[in-house]
Amino acid sequence: MKKYKHIVNPDKKMGHINPETQGHFSEHLGRCIYEGIYVGENSDIPNKNGMRTDVVEALKEMKLPVLRWPGGCFADEYHWMDGIGDKASRKKMINTNWGGVVEDNSFGTHEFMELCEQLGCKTYVNGNVGSGTVREMSEWVEYMTFSGVSPMADLRKKNGREEPWTVDYFGVGNESWGCGGNMLPEYYADLFRHYQTFVRNYNPEKKIKKIAVGPSDKNYNWTEVLLNKCFQGEGQFPQNYGYMNGLSLHYYTLPYDWSKKGAATGFNEKEWYMTLSKTLFMDELLTKHSAIMDRYDPEERIGLIVDEWGTWYDVEEGTNPGFLYQQNTMRDALVAGINLNLFNKHCRRVHMANIAQVVNVLQAVILTEGEQMLKTPTYHVFKMYSAHQDNELLESSIDTKQIGIEEQYMVPNLSESASVAEDGRIHITITNLSISEDYEIESNLLGREIKGVKAEIVTGKMDAHNTFEDKENVKTVPFDAVRADQDKLIYVIPACSVLHIEVEV
Ligand code: AHR
Repeated sequence: MKKYKHIVNPDKKMGHINPETQGHFSEHLGRCIYEGIYVGENSDIPNKNGMRTDVVEALKEMKLPVLRWPGGCFADEYHWMDGIGDKASRKKMINTNWGGVVEDNSFGTHEFMELCEQLGCKTYVNGNVGSGTVREMSEWVEYMTFSGVSPMADLRKKNGREEPWTVDYFGVGNESWGCGGNMLPEYYADLFRHYQTFVRNYNPEKKIKKIAVGPSDKNYNWTEVLLNKCFQGEGQFPQNYGYMNGLSLHYYTLPYDWSKKGAATGFNEKEWYMTLSKTLFMDELLTKHSAIMDRYDPEERIGLIVDEWGTWYDVEEGTNPGFLYQQNTMRDALVAGINLNLFNKHCRRVHMANIAQVVNVLQAVILTEGEQMLKTPTYHVFKMYSAHQDNELLESSIDTKQIGIEEQYMVPNLSESASVAEDGRIHITITNLSISEDYEIESNLLGREIKGVKAEIVTGKMDAHNTFEDKENVKTVPFDAVRADQDKLIYVIPACSVLHIEVEV
């Protein structure tokens, strides 16, 4: 069996891995918020202040670092004032983007902040540019973050919250090139400059990071025009620095295209490789958008914020097409592992990423059915990769060969990344993209004597998934087959798997 050489250089630190690169997204869409997370205080499903205890516990265990809310497309139709105060008298609205269902606004700002407090995670609130006013956005920020005496701070106190909350990230619109207003980049750039002015920083100790709407996929023109316009006048006001802390990027992995996406389960080998090759396109997107950003921001102060990514399949049969409910298999585990490795590799520019979406929507880490809950293969990968959070990325590379069925959908057989934690332990994550072939790997830690090794793996058949009848079909299990020899690790990675090795040196 050929040995694939993997080199990890513990002396070469390549950048900091922000925990937020393993972030999540929760929209008022289908059964994500309602049922999936929030069931209300009077529900029979065990909850704390309306939040499902089982889901909160599972997400905490996975170390969810940051949550984006309330959308998505929903954000540009959301009027935050409808979601505060007495629940019985909150306005009801139509969720026009997602199934035309009634939104009763029972989950609003206070509930989102309560959820994040329970999760112990950072907050990413997405504002409304598409159908909201500058005043509305400005007042929301005042309501959430101002500690003194003001109309909005007083209203918050009247609604039961004395202390302001921390808003870590604030999105100035969402997909303004599409559902957020069908704007051109020139127009949005002016709106961004305008709206963000009134996203005030009331607490200089906890400055809000402002995120501008960035491109979808390979719309490099959007990135170029937006940055160009936002950096104009910089000479006069260098402290403005493009007015932004982050620029978003949305890229979804569809096996086919938007008219026929492909099924979440029961797919064939060709569709496996199609999906993985499409997800690997993320690397090119990160590289090319970063190259444009480098010209305006060579110091890498502005983060590329991949705040929507993941697989998007045809919905499960018999479910509401507007609810985007899909199953999650080993293929999704691979998509997660590959992308999280890429975010690590690009950590100097990628400061945050939010998979879509946390519960019951698209590539979810959790699925629920009534009072039942299951963890998907993607969940197990996220939990495994949490070992990289807050580490320093290490220089690393691996030998690969191209595999696949059709020329245009060939993929490298392996993907990897490595980091070092504060305690000196090295964490390696490797994915095997082949459906059928195991590979022998020799990881060389360049002269570091290996004192201890622990490994865990998520593996299974390409279509393996968890159901409410069999919730643990796919799960993380210990992997004892890693042999240490001085500064080398030797092991065979099974087909279709995501592996994490923790090394004490
Ligand atoms: O995640 C689902 C939707 O995809 C979001 O609402 C939107 O921003 C994107 O088009």
